[in-house]
Amino acid sequence: MTYNFDKEIKRIGTSSVKWDYQKNGIGMVESDACDAKHGADRLLPLWVADMDFKSPPAVIEALKARAEHGIFGYTKHGDSYFEALINWMDTHYGRQIKKEWVILTPGVVSAIKIMVQTFVAPGEKVLIQPPVYYPFFGAIEENGAEIVRNELILEGNRYFMDFDDLAQKTADPAVKMAILCSPHNPIGRVWTKEELTRFGEICLANDVLVISDEIHCDLIMTGHTFTSFASISEAFAQNSIVCTAPSKTFNLPGLKTSNMIIPNRNLRLAFSKTMERAGLMGGNTFGIVGTEAAYRHGEEWLTKLLAYIESNYHFMVDYLAEHLPQLTVFPLEGTYLVWVDCRALGLDAETRQELFLKEAKLFLDEGELFGPEGLGFERFNIACPRAILAEALARMKSVITALEPA
Ligand SMILES: Cc1ncc(COP(=O)(O)O)c(C=O)c1O
Repeated sequence: MTYNFDKEIKRIGTSSVKWDYQKNGIGMVESDACDAKHGADRLLPLWVADMDFKSPPAVIEALKARAEHGIFGYTKHGDSYFEALINWMDTHYGRQIKKEWVILTPGVVSAIKIMVQTFVAPGEKVLIQPPVYYPFFGAIEENGAEIVRNELILEGNRYFMDFDDLAQKTADPAVKMAILCSPHNPIGRVWTKEELTRFGEICLANDVLVISDEIHCDLIMTGHTFTSFASISEAFAQNSIVCTAPSKTFNLPGLKTSNMIIPNRNLRLAFSKTMERAGLMGGNTFGIVGTEAAYRHGEEWLTKLLAYIESNYHFMVDYLAEHLPQLTVFPLEGTYLVWVDCRALGLDAETRQELFLKEAKLFLDEGELFGPEGLGFERFNIACPRAILAEALARMKSVITALEPA
């Protein structure tokens, strides 16, 4: 089957966070309150991690059929749901999971918040590796815990984990949990099995529980191999919770359905208890149907999607090399989020924001959001039709070129 990823699908007016909400310098507001949202002058949103592509046809068909049924009562996922998930994990990652290990949540971020509430007492500490997905900061601090930063090391145009620092910081008995972002948003690394093994061994030796956020695990570029943290050893499986979801892979984040995989019975019971206390049990009717259809029938679509994203990435790399060589694009090993070093422009964060958001009308995620380690960088979401990406890059070229002395 062919899929037309080039087709621009209007999303304005669909209550889309990406397209209907914009930043006005104070916070997020409905785009009507902002600058132009239609026509050539519209603001292009390449920020939040959802895609401007339709989900696989089989998912849409399954959801339509479910909608046709017309009764949307309380819903629970059954054997057929688990079978699809178990099969996906086995065929893609060689990981054999059991259905009783899986707990559904309305999202990965909400699950991580519940994990902090469950496993980290106020005043205790959680380790993260900035620059990193910014909701991790809130998940820790909003729940009374303290952030411990194991900053990634930038060598050339690739980031690496700092294992000496990790060993030193996890030796603090107050550090109870480490959140691994694998693949890593925003820097696009797919951690190797060796890196994950060293990370896991250090955490295990220091009795630090690993939360492996693997939401981007199906979005892997040619030449890279994803390893699920818990597949490395039984000891890692018992000392971890793996967060997975079909939401990034098949563009279903609005269906609010994610799967937490928790083989350790004690961890599972404790997590479920907090979920219950928060009243978070029960499935989303459409989330369950969409997830099952995606895992059962989405494979071919995903292969083509990855090829499209990869060609968008090469288009971007070539464009910037030709027109804006002062910007450095990082290798994209996984995710559809491209990390770009804009420090050579010599602009402070505010001026860069002014330039991109107000002049170029480009809504990117500024690097500073991911921690001070991201100062001077921008994150581009390239999961959009090529024409939108091309327009975004042309706008960047235009405002940056105008900065330079004639
Ligand atoms: C690493 C990572 N985790 C979690 C999420 C969000 O997950 P959810 O929408 O399921 O809360 C994202 C979305 O961008 C992400 O990049």
